[in-house]
Amino acid sequence: MSLSKRRGFVFPSSEIYGGLGSAWDYGPLGVELCNNVKQAWWRWMVHERDDMEGIDSSIILNRSVWKYSGHEDTFSDPLVDCKECNSRLRADKLELSKRFHQAQDEALRQHPLRSLAGTYDTQALLDRKWLSCPNCGSDSLTNLRSFNLMFRTTIGAAAEDDDPTALAYLRPETAQGIFINFLNVQTTMRRKIPFGIAQIGKSFRNEVTPGNFIFRTREFEQMEMEYFVRPGEDERVHQEWIDYCFDWFKTLGISPDNLRFYEQPKEELAHYAKRTVDIHYRFFPEREDEERQWDELMGIANRTDFDLKAHSKKPEKEGERINKDSTEDLSYFDEATKERYYPYVIEPAAGVNRTVLAVLMDAYTEKVNDKGEKRVILRLHPELAPIKVAVLPLAKNKPEIVALAHAVKKELQPAMRAVYDDTGGIGKLYARQDEIGTPFCVTVDHQSLEDEAVTVRDRDTWGQERVKAAELQEYLKKRLGIAC
Ligand code: GAP
Repeated sequence: MSLSKRRGFVFPSSEIYGGLGSAWDYGPLGVELCNNVKQAWWRWMVHERDDMEGIDSSIILNRSVWKYSGHEDTFSDPLVDCKECNSRLRADKLELSKRFHQAQDEALRQHPLRSLAGTYDTQALLDRKWLSCPNCGSDSLTNLRSFNLMFRTTIGAAAEDDDPTALAYLRPETAQGIFINFLNVQTTMRRKIPFGIAQIGKSFRNEVTPGNFIFRTREFEQMEMEYFVRPGEDERVHQEWIDYCFDWFKTLGISPDNLRFYEQPKEELAHYAKRTVDIHYRFFPEREDEERQWDELMGIANRTDFDLKAHSKKPEKEGERINKDSTEDLSYFDEATKERYYPYVIEPAAGVNRTVLAVLMDAYTEKVNDKGEKRVILRLHPELAPIKVAVLPLAKNKPEIVALAHAVKKELQPAMRAVYDDTGGIGKLYARQDEIGTPFCVTVDHQSLEDEAVTVRDRDTWGQERVKAAELQEYLKKRLGIAC
């Protein structure tokens, strides 16, 4: 976090006004890193496949979308307040109180095999004062209530704040924008099942307990894809996507030692999911308990035909239309088999911000130089590095060297993100670029004026090589793996 702030990746938002709990702004290097992550995902997900289309749907959608998707009724967290310290807490994050442990000991004395855990639901545990606040330890907590996580707003200048006809939400997932466009994309692009629709964009959730830097925020960005398949094919395709996604994170340079699969147990599944496997990253390596080191980076869900059916006017229950507001039927007619069905949906859904956090954490390394000084090196994958090359003049008081360095930088600029820097001694300039993950530094020196060659220094090995200025662009492109 301190490197992120110091070097312009991520700043606490609204800092000059005391901040805004868990909101973050991406600085000059952070925005490049986010863009590179999104571009890498888009290329892998959309451009390199034949069965994919992309869209960019609206953040504010017709309220009916959230009614029929189930979010109005079920997208909520169980919440309690601590009467002692006034903390607002998610009920599933409460701890067992002293009273609970006393009752448990007593129960075990009477019936050695009787464990109380899991016998009562959360409200019953609260009634008995068997839960406590993780912040102050008090068992004086309010009753359980449900808190919908969608941000509300009103549409139109004349709308009153509580006018239900003007009520709208900021989307809590990008997925619904894809489902409601399923027919538009399928017909305009003449797609046959199986195919997918991908989208990257902001989502908003009024999280009860945001925190851990950019891990959980109220405004965040998602990279989601909905893959439509024939019912019956869903389980096989789901497993394929689980494996593809795991491999994608490895191509970003993330160590597989810090990635794992997590099969969501039935009680954790979202209302629409038949099976969900998360990819976890070791976001909390400092925690002693190994199990608590991991948390979700991405979820890959089998959403069945829940969403397309829910948004269709057609399906009926006991002769009555389930969806009275939709004007379309989102079922699919399979020309080959002459069957009509609601496609099943496999959904890989990742967070941009969590991917950025994982990439930063994984790339962070420290190295000691010949003088015994500790240096930070951000070993970012070249595709993700905010700056690909820094051009540094060895003597900034020599106009010919400075001019040549500027010319070299200008030459590289259209092909890759290049910067010029002469604001310190060469050792300091190298160290700065190592710290922000720049794969190569190019040094222009006195000799360059005679032999028209420059020195290329590698971030990871600190090895140096002399390269002709005229061949530099091709040389760097090859070493960075940038396609022409
Ligand atoms: N459409 C399915 C869906 O939204 P999710 O597991 O709730 O599934 C997908 O979200 C991904 O979005 C998560 O794996 C995580 O990377 C990211 N995400 C979710 N809530 C977030 C938050 N409050 N802050 C940052 N990222 C979040």
